[in-house]
Amino acid sequence: MVSASGQNNRIVSGMRPTGRLHLGNYHGALKNWVKLQHEYDCFFFVADWHALTTHYEDTGDVASRAWDMIIDWLAAGVNPGSATLFIQSRVPEHAELHLLLSMITPLSWLERVPTYKDQQEKLKERDLSTYGFLGYPLLQSADILMYKPGLVPVGEDQVAHVEITREIARRFNHSFGREPEFESRAETALRKTGKKNARLFREMRKRWQEQGDEESLEVARAMLSSQQNLTKGDRERLFGYLEGGGREILVEPEALLTETPKMPGLDGQKMSKSYGNTIGLREPLESVEQKIRTMPTDPARVRRSDPGTPEKCPLWEFHKIYSDKDTQEWAHKGCTTAGIGCLECKGPVIEAVSNELRPIQSRAQEYEEDPDAVRSIIQEGCETARSRARETLDEVRQIMGLQYR
Ligand code: TRP
Ligand code: SF4
Repeated sequence: MVSASGQNNRIVSGMRPTGRLHLGNYHGALKNWVKLQHEYDCFFFVADWHALTTHYEDTGDVASRAWDMIIDWLAAGVNPGSATLFIQSRVPEHAELHLLLSMITPLSWLERVPTYKDQQEKLKERDLSTYGFLGYPLLQSADILMYKPGLVPVGEDQVAHVEITREIARRFNHSFGREPEFESRAETALRKTGKKNARLFREMRKRWQEQGDEESLEVARAMLSSQQNLTKGDRERLFGYLEGGGREILVEPEALLTETPKMPGLDGQKMSKSYGNTIGLREPLESVEQKIRTMPTDPARVRRSDPGTPEKCPLWEFHKIYSDKDTQEWAHKGCTTAGIGCLECKGPVIEAVSNELRPIQSRAQEYEEDPDAVRSIIQEGCETARSRARETLDEVRQIMGLQYR
């Protein structure tokens, strides 16, 4: 089904405040954000409440981890002129939306989110039988639905969360979008678009509802989107009327799964702080070089004259990310024929990683030296996000009968 999201170019994504970021974070998500900010209207935020859902006992430094992470976002090229950057807890509207959505969320939906059981298994040393942890996917739904994005860039592990977000939006619209006299209100709204447009709308609606013709749906949607004089409420009514449901108050987003290379750590496992196998974005380049030089390689290469198998070597994974075809061929051939030594093989990787990190580090340093600039970027982002969030909440409160005058 085509939804309003199809023609909406807003994106929302959050990251837990883990402190300084490493190359795994960079290649896994951040680099993608930098790219997306040019193509979409992006809202990127620090998911600090999310951190508390699993780490409520050692909250000590959430704020400093958040600032450190934000500096790395900026250093990596996330541009506050293109994207809105904010901190979740500083837009408390997220909590209110979470609460209101909780009223219509069946417990069973939350219990069957795969990460619920998985994480409880994985983080056995923590007691995750809490209300906050169970509700965490719903908090994420609130984060997303608040801004009515069309797309949510996420990794594989988060797709289920976008899916539950869609279900919540659908349930919400179904529960509350059917106001009394919906049809006659929609017809009144339609008249405001003028005779010609109203006729076009009726014809396209008929074709969509009777024959499922998606092109007609798109045409009618485009017409509605271009109407400057419709109120928001009327537009939502007409979108709902077009599709055959009630008002579309919350928009169903789609997951944007991006192909990201798997960034291995220094030992070949996934790069992760908990494995101690990371290269930090702000790590001094001498230390980066040292780490790569001492990385384990294919154990079959005991002596320089022993040939190896790149596929058994963690460094080869780095070549796959950092090297061009020629260099990869050189390394592969050199390895299997014992034509090159491991240290020689590591040279181009050290060079490429250093070249990648150099501009990031120099920007990071500028922000480290000017924390006020970072704060004011976030301050501004929080204000922008908040005013967007208030608009959504006003609608949600109203439709749930909470408008006090
Ligand atoms: N749950 C995500 C994670 O742990 C972070 C997150 C919170 C998020 N809210 C979000 C991601 C909204 C995308 C959209 O990585
Ligand atoms: Fe790994 Fe390169 Fe050594 Fe082969 S030559 S084992 S690919 S570091």
